[in-house]
Amino acid sequence: MGIIGNQTFWIKSTASTNQALLDLLGKGEPEEGTLIAALKQTSGRGLGTNTWESEDYKNLTFSFVLYPEFLPAENQFELNKVITLGISDFVKNQLPGEKVYIKWPNDIYVGDKKICGMLIQNSLSGGVLNYLIAGIGLNVNQTVFSKEIPNPVSLKLFLNKDLDLKKSLEELCECLNTRYLQLKNNLSEKISRDYQNRLLGWKEWRNYLANDKPLRAKITGVNAFGQLELITSDEKQVVCNLKEIRFLF
Ligand code: BTN
Repeated sequence: MGIIGNQTFWIKSTASTNQALLDLLGKGEPEEGTLIAALKQTSGRGLGTNTWESEDYKNLTFSFVLYPEFLPAENQFELNKVITLGISDFVKNQLPGEKVYIKWPNDIYVGDKKICGMLIQNSLSGGVLNYLIAGIGLNVNQTVFSKEIPNPVSLKLFLNKDLDLKKSLEELCECLNTRYLQLKNNLSEKISRDYQNRLLGWKEWRNYLANDKPLRAKITGVNAFGQLELITSDEKQVVCNLKEIRFLF
């Protein structure tokens, strides 16, 4: 039995599974990996002020908690890497013929379309990472999306069939656990290599908007702080935080 999803609660409806897990943490200390999955979110949240839209009963929307005591707080981006790798491993297993990417820092893309978003909430005190809540929205059986969502896709749009959500979540948890164990077993170099290899735009000339200015650059990697590193055609190095760069498709 793995850690993530060992204790899983399926609920019919909640505002946001991240909030449901935070409420659970407020009442005590659920075991590491405790996962709450909802068939319907009434107020799903994305990054910043974004909302997360997901058709009721069609997709995976869930959150789980980790207590990574073994990990110095300054290395917390390693957790983003293992979680995005675990999800992209699952998507890759489902769609072996497709190109599956991690769009820095936390999105999963199939080709140039977004299939999964992730909202990570950390609790840090005195340089120690107390807990991490990872909230995942993976489009599984939804085929029609609202026009406001930029470039969505789901597994069903590739497979032309519905997937069983409970079985899919179990398989996804296996992928997440494999990657989390790699981190626990000090395989950080492998994790970083795999993350880099799967990065959308790695070693590839692409167009971006960096601080609202057009930028043509190649991604060279992600540094220890989780910042995106790029190089321009005149060999200028660019280092970006979230919000400072937008991928253009
Ligand atoms: C993004 O903006 O791309 C992140 C979206 C994260 C959505 C998931 S769905 C499950 C969990 N609960 C939420 O309210 N948000 C996350």
